[in-house]
Amino acid sequence: MTAVQGGRTPKVLHVSPEAVPFSKVGGLGDVAGSLPAALRDSGTDCRLLTPAWEGVLDRARELGFSLSRLSRKAEAVIRWKIHRGTVWKCSGEGLVAYLLEEPSLFGKTVYPRELTPDSVTPFLFLSLAALDLPSATLWKPDIIHCHDWGTAPLPAALKWHIHFGSSGDVCKTVFTIHNLAHQGLLSLESLGDWGIRNEAARVEGMEYFGMANLMKGALVSCDAITTVSPGYAEEILTEEGGEGLGGLLKSLSGKVSGILNGLDDRYWDPRTDPLLPERYSPDNLSGKTACKKKLLERAGWKDDGRPLLVSVGRMVEQKGFSILLPALEELVGMNCRLFLVGSGQTEYEEAADSAAARFPGSVFVFRGYDEPLAHLAYAGGDFFLMPSRFEPCGLSQLISLRYGTVPIVRAAGGLRDTVFELGTPGGNGFLFSGYTPEDLLEAVARAMEVFRDKDSMQLLSLRGMNADFSWNRSAPLYKKLYESLLL
Ligand code: GLC
Repeated sequence: MTAVQGGRTPKVLHVSPEAVPFSKVGGLGDVAGSLPAALRDSGTDCRLLTPAWEGVLDRARELGFSLSRLSRKAEAVIRWKIHRGTVWKCSGEGLVAYLLEEPSLFGKTVYPRELTPDSVTPFLFLSLAALDLPSATLWKPDIIHCHDWGTAPLPAALKWHIHFGSSGDVCKTVFTIHNLAHQGLLSLESLGDWGIRNEAARVEGMEYFGMANLMKGALVSCDAITTVSPGYAEEILTEEGGEGLGGLLKSLSGKVSGILNGLDDRYWDPRTDPLLPERYSPDNLSGKTACKKKLLERAGWKDDGRPLLVSVGRMVEQKGFSILLPALEELVGMNCRLFLVGSGQTEYEEAADSAAARFPGSVFVFRGYDEPLAHLAYAGGDFFLMPSRFEPCGLSQLISLRYGTVPIVRAAGGLRDTVFELGTPGGNGFLFSGYTPEDLLEAVARAMEVFRDKDSMQLLSLRGMNADFSWNRSAPLYKKLYESLLL
């Protein structure tokens, strides 16, 4: 353990709108729950603050976490109203978390459809209450680590808030971009609602095409920016991948770094996964064959030796559905079977359903998300398809590798940091570059050649299973970053 600041290891508070096992909307939830636990494992006093959305306290109790209510509440003033949140200290599963309960703000759904002065209030409260948290917990972090736009008001408040911005607080901030496509836009006038000084409304501050951009405010004011893969860290500095903030990020590149997400390998492990009908390991893959059989049964199919391509994820443009769906007919023509799990944009859902209706023996769509079925799909597929238009990191390809299901992915962001073309060093899957159905089909054609050769296919699948994509690789990089901020 490296000691800094007079012999102490850094005290770090992670703040996230979602975190497993309490809440999860997407990959951010997985990372915000598993990273603080991994950092604690490696000796950092790392804790988490996340809202007690409806049902979260009950879930924590059911999971056997120990919960105690702190006597003092965390407070923040937003639009002339004092909001007070009850702070629950919650420990278990290697995690120390503070669950912030304020039922009038943290209700059923995590993210609003549209950002308005009302719908943004839970996120402003989470961010400002984090700064008031030490008065309730008597534990003062050296570093606050924020995740995505929902916690972007926090670093901004340390710079421009009428109270926190002049309190002489020396707390450092890290801001992690999980997805630059969601930035949090509000009217400039609304900045005053949460105590932000006028100077923040300038172009050097949060101003963005006449609006206030929360993400921009955090980027400008935090001490370090990280994103979830080295590949995405390069892409966001460009006009093409910067989602309108590429120029700004380039000018801030001295404080930008990419650290690959880790997989919670205790949860995602085909040797022990309780949601699989049969478990398996690199030494004995027979359970994987059984999983394929079960997955085929879910579609009403029998194993006829054809390759099974699976996809698990939101049916949205980011995930590449605008090139996957037009390729379905040809994929069927190439003798592939496809099992898709997910829901999302209506046009993609409808196109997927109509392909399933046209090719009932080859395309199956499960609309929605079902955790046991997702596990079965990761385990039962021969190949995992992820043709993302952009992908900050992507966790699905890491899960599929661990489950021996060979990934076929577009070379974007974190996908190109984790999947390597067969025949190149570390080759564990198939990649394509152009964002077109033709490029995708070419990669699948290469995969089909390997599928025909049972031994090569097995070797490829084992290579994925034996690789380490856990936090063991990445947690030390965060630790190093924290230590460098406190020097
Ligand atoms: C977002 C990104 C995904 C990433 C996840 C966790 O959901 O789209 O690529 O893996 O955040 O960082």
